[in-house]
Amino acid sequence: MIYPVTIIGHPTLRKRAEEITKDYPDLENIINNMYDTMYDSDGVGLAAPQINKSIRLMVIDGAPMAEDDPSLEGFKQTFINPEILEHKGEEFLFNEGCLSIPGIREDISRPSEILIRYMDEDFIEHEEWFDGVKARILQHEYDHLEGILFTDRVSPLRKKILKGKLVAISKGKFTAQYKTLITK
Ligand code: CO
Repeated sequence: MIYPVTIIGHPTLRKRAEEITKDYPDLENIINNMYDTMYDSDGVGLAAPQINKSIRLMVIDGAPMAEDDPSLEGFKQTFINPEILEHKGEEFLFNEGCLSIPGIREDISRPSEILIRYMDEDFIEHEEWFDGVKARILQHEYDHLEGILFTDRVSPLRKKILKGKLVAISKGKFTAQYKTLITK
C-alpha cells in the first residue's frame, strides 16, 4: 500500500516523534508500505512523520543515487528508534530535496560523519558510523523525527527568499507525481 506523503505545513512534520516497541501495531506492514511509498515517489529515504505517523522509524534505499555515488550501492536499511550519538568530520554542502517540500532544492551544510545507534526490523540494536552521502541521507531523515525540515537549515537570507514559496506549497500550490497530504 502506498501512503500519501505529508506536505510542509502538516503538523505531524513538526512534532518530535515517539519511540516504539516491538509490539507496535502492524509494524511489519507499515515498514513494507513505507518502502513502497518511497519507491513510488523516487525518494532515497522516508521517515514515518512523512506518512503521518509520529514514530521514530525511517527507511532508506540509496539505489536511485547509486549510479552517481557507488558508495550507496546496496545501502538499503530500516532504522527504528535511531539516536545520533556523535558527529565528526568537516561540514560539507550537498544539494538536498524532500518529498514533503516538492519542487524545492537547497544546498545544506552538515557534518560528514555520524555515529548512530538504532534497532533493525528485528529490534536488534546496532551502533555504526556512516560517512559521506549515507551520513547525509541519515541526518536528513533523522531531522524528520525531530520535527526539523531541511529548509530550517538554510541561511536567514535564503529563509526569507523561500518563505513565500513554502507557504504556497503548504496550501497545495505544487505538483508531485505521488499522493500527498496537506493540512486543511
Ligand atoms: Co525529507
